Amino acid sequence: MCGIIGIVSNKSVSTNIINSLKKLEYRGYDSAGLATISDGKINEKKCPGRVEKLEKILFQTPSRGNLGIGHVRWATHGVPNEVNAHPHSSEIVSVVHNGIIENSDELKKELEKSGKTFKSQTDTEVITVLLTEKLKKLEPLKAVFETLETLKGSFALGIIFKEFEDFIIGARRGSPLAVGYSNSENYLGSDSYALKSMTNKISYLDDGDVCVLSKDDVKFYNSNKDKINKEIFTLSEDKSSVSKGNYKSFMIKEIFEQPNTTKTCLKEYIDKIREEINFYNLPVDPKKINKVVLIGCGTAYHSCLVAKYWLEELTTLNVEADIASEFRYRKVKFDINNLYIFVSQSGETADTYAALDLCKKENAKTCSVVNVVESSIARHSDCVLPIHAGPEIGVASTKAFLGQMLVLYLLSLKISEIRNDIEHKEYKKKIGELKKIPKLIAESLKEEEKIQLIAKDIYKSKGSMFLGRGSSFPIALEGALKLKELSYLHAEGYPAGEMKHGPLALIEDGLPVVVIAPKDKYFEKTLSNMQEVIARGGKVLLLTNSSSKVISENIRFQINLPDADLTLTPFLFTIPLQLLSYHVAMFKKCDIDKPRNLAKSVTVE
Ligand code: AGP
Repeated sequence: MCGIIGIVSNKSVSTNIINSLKKLEYRGYDSAGLATISDGKINEKKCPGRVEKLEKILFQTPSRGNLGIGHVRWATHGVPNEVNAHPHSSEIVSVVHNGIIENSDELKKELEKSGKTFKSQTDTEVITVLLTEKLKKLEPLKAVFETLETLKGSFALGIIFKEFEDFIIGARRGSPLAVGYSNSENYLGSDSYALKSMTNKISYLDDGDVCVLSKDDVKFYNSNKDKINKEIFTLSEDKSSVSKGNYKSFMIKEIFEQPNTTKTCLKEYIDKIREEINFYNLPVDPKKINKVVLIGCGTAYHSCLVAKYWLEELTTLNVEADIASEFRYRKVKFDINNLYIFVSQSGETADTYAALDLCKKENAKTCSVVNVVESSIARHSDCVLPIHAGPEIGVASTKAFLGQMLVLYLLSLKISEIRNDIEHKEYKKKIGELKKIPKLIAESLKEEEKIQLIAKDIYKSKGSMFLGRGSSFPIALEGALKLKELSYLHAEGYPAGEMKHGPLALIEDGLPVVVIAPKDKYFEKTLSNMQEVIARGGKVLLLTNSSSKVISENIRFQINLPDADLTLTPFLFTIPLQLLSYHVAMFKKCDIDKPRNLAKSVTVE
């Protein structure tokens, strides 16, 4: 998704803009650009493709200037090409934009009627044209406020003005925007991560806020145009470095980091001395909760689904899991005694944020499970539960999924204990079992070689299916999502018991079918479903526990995972599925860290 950078300094800014744009690459993009001002002129450079290409252009024809804006674009209005790339500049003003201007067509038609012309197909260019007109009569800040009043939709903006070489204006409605502070230099950025290499002092704009950045000062205004003060946060240092190390991709590095990330997370939440789970500041007394509603998108939604099984198993609560893009538009009945939990790795996902915003407007009690603690979702929820996974760079979420499940499991267990839904002895036993997770994950990772051979056998297939029952059903969904997003191989995740109601028709000779069958209460039934698949020619990969002792010569492949407490199954059975999707994608020579058409941080709906 689009990302914005702005720097105003006492020295040349283009190199730092390029470096910061590289930090925003994780969001996914298809073109890049920058504009600086020097000698009373706007220097605009942009291109389709990667930031490296923009860097080469700058190397050949450098852009001077102590103030500038940069952008990585993820196309919404208009194809990814040079003209549609940001910034969008006129003679006197240059604009970068993240978000969507919903009334851009209407505005464009009106402006065209009065003789204005447009170079691009983007929604953003209307902002440039409107500002250019208003600047004929108004000073920049007033021109920006007046322009914002005509815009509908969501945006984060960075704006520079030819006549004013000493300030940048930023504005936020919907899309996130942060300001960073340093000596004789200030910054604007779509997220704190992009600014982290330059500063750890950050403020966040709220909806409707506008800011004016000069090198020694930052002024903030709210939507009423009143001057306001902003809290300055000091960012925490990242312990894990954002580099691939000796790994071929971030994704495989992140898969192998999971023993450590889960260990860190457990350390954060389990008091070693008292053997107790620590959760402070839950916005509602667990004894008084009426219902828990878990909300997320994609992989984060799958962790919500797993948590639904856990909460139902461990507590007497009603539980719902919902997809954020659906929840936000349904006629949901809110209840002050419900706890709404928002799950998001990035904490910036537009649909999840909108669902949170809806809950806030209804005065509902909210809690977020995020990896990025400085994110919009974290800052706007009543309580934040970080997953402590460290930066996740690969677009395909792996260690964040395990982190989300871990925090949700700890929360389920704690709620169960506070409500007296679980016996104290059993509660303590489960905490003891939880501590084994990092080691068990490390053991499961040892299956990699075998999984690579399986990937070699199936990577040319046209499709695949993933089946599971109980909490293994969301794991089947996650396995299928991972395979399709990484390797572009069609994959369907299904509850194994649903096969006979339609999907069984898809089974044909040689179709790879992954059957997730831990030795739990569903075991026998899942194996029967597996036999139905085998009878129709399906090529089965069975994932089960070492003690299951399944022997069937018709099972094409079998992976035995370590025996463990049954509640830990989702953690262990996810590992071979992550490795399978990775190796299939490797055989298909796909771009592992940046799958086609996808973005790491989905900031449009
Ligand atoms: C995961 O592999 C996907 N790339 C995607 O489904 C992701 O989980 C989803 O976009 C939600 O992102 P979030 O966790 O940052 O909110």
